[in-house]
Amino acid sequence: MSRLVIRGRNRLLGEVTVGGSKNSSVAVVPAALLADGKCVIDNLPMIRDVRVFAQILSDLGASVSIEGNSMAIAPNGFSSHVAPYDLVKKLRASYYLMGVLLAKFGRAEVGLPGGCDIGPRPIDQHLKGFRALGAEATVEGGVVRLHAKKLVGAPIYLDIPSVGATINIMLAASRAEGTTIIENAAKEPHVVDLANFLNAMGARVLGAGTDVVRVRGVSKMNAANHSVIPDDMEAATFMMAAVATSGDVVVRNVITKHLEPITAKLKEAGAVITENGDYVRVQGPERPHPINVKTLPYPGFPTDAQQPLVSVLARADGVSVVQESMYDNRFGHVNELVRMGANIKVEGRTAIVEGVPKLVGAPVKVSDLRAGASLIIAGLSAHGVTEVNGMEIVQRGYEMMPEKLRSLGADVTEEDE
Ligand code: EPU
Repeated sequence: MSRLVIRGRNRLLGEVTVGGSKNSSVAVVPAALLADGKCVIDNLPMIRDVRVFAQILSDLGASVSIEGNSMAIAPNGFSSHVAPYDLVKKLRASYYLMGVLLAKFGRAEVGLPGGCDIGPRPIDQHLKGFRALGAEATVEGGVVRLHAKKLVGAPIYLDIPSVGATINIMLAASRAEGTTIIENAAKEPHVVDLANFLNAMGARVLGAGTDVVRVRGVSKMNAANHSVIPDDMEAATFMMAAVATSGDVVVRNVITKHLEPITAKLKEAGAVITENGDYVRVQGPERPHPINVKTLPYPGFPTDAQQPLVSVLARADGVSVVQESMYDNRFGHVNELVRMGANIKVEGRTAIVEGVPKLVGAPVKVSDLRAGASLIIAGLSAHGVTEVNGMEIVQRGYEMMPEKLRSLGADVTEEDE
């Protein structure tokens, strides 16, 4: 267990470079198992979720080696369709093994995954997709069992544009016979990134990034190399830290298009944002203005940025209303922010944030990944010392966060709890 001790009120100044996308990496890494040969994935963030996935693949018999931010994955001795709970429990995205194992072996047995506790996260849409492709699917004793004599492409309408279901169906459909059409598909940037990787391996995926994705299955997929897209949520976190500290930060290695929902809202909150090629410069106001936000699937305002944003708005000069439309329990940061002097009330899935002139440091505890980002941002803008306990949760998704913050002038130190 580790904690981050933050002495707040330093304006963040300078440049920071974001790493590869967590949510893309956790799809691209298992997808490499579909190839017949060795794939090399670059620009991977060396975060806990990626390392855990590497461990899972090697425990399943694949040969995996890591060098810097690259991972080479060769299916070699990979022959098991069983991914037991003990192996997959640490990582929610291990559910992508269902699509991969089903595509590769026609069967899969995967423990239902863990991950952040942000409310119920059903996988009915994933299973509906697998069944439409011809698989039998059962869930018993916390294990998902899938079996198909042969996968055959089919039209699939998703009830909600689930990122996980869209990706899992793309994975399974890439080796099915015929064409699969996913309607009401998720449009998030990592769906497009995975499609590019599948296509590089020889699959035929069209329309990723729109709400209709077509996958023409192929019988064989080749080795390919891929570079993961930049992490839009890491970029969003640094952008918000800049605003919260009235800082002036250039965030490098971003795809500015992916950040549009963040940029638009931070501008409304009073930030001056300039975009140029692969960077954004964010200059924060003395005190943010209040704004109203509702989380929505991409290109709407992302749920993953909601928690960090609440910390920014906690010091706004007025009342903001933040609606969470994706998860039942994504306000785990609020009670901790209140302990730091924030004035926030949660009613159902809505937070009413009455800005206060100052936050005051306190010991706080991280409940989930983005709550961790939220508490760090609050600590950076607060008077006095904030102890963020439970940093191992933050390490699941952020690479070298303390080092990057220090390079921007933050006074942060890591300690064992
Ligand atoms: N849902 C269902 N049935 C399903 C699938 C989803 O009802 O079969 C519901 C969920 O309960 C949720 C909504 O649909 O209310 C959206 O879920 P989605 O499947 O899109 O989310 P996910 O694939 O489980 C990914 C990210 C999350 C991010 C969401 C939304 C990964 C590994 N995780 O989760 O990332 O919040 O999309 O954008 O890609 C994070 O990075 O902190 C994080 C939680």
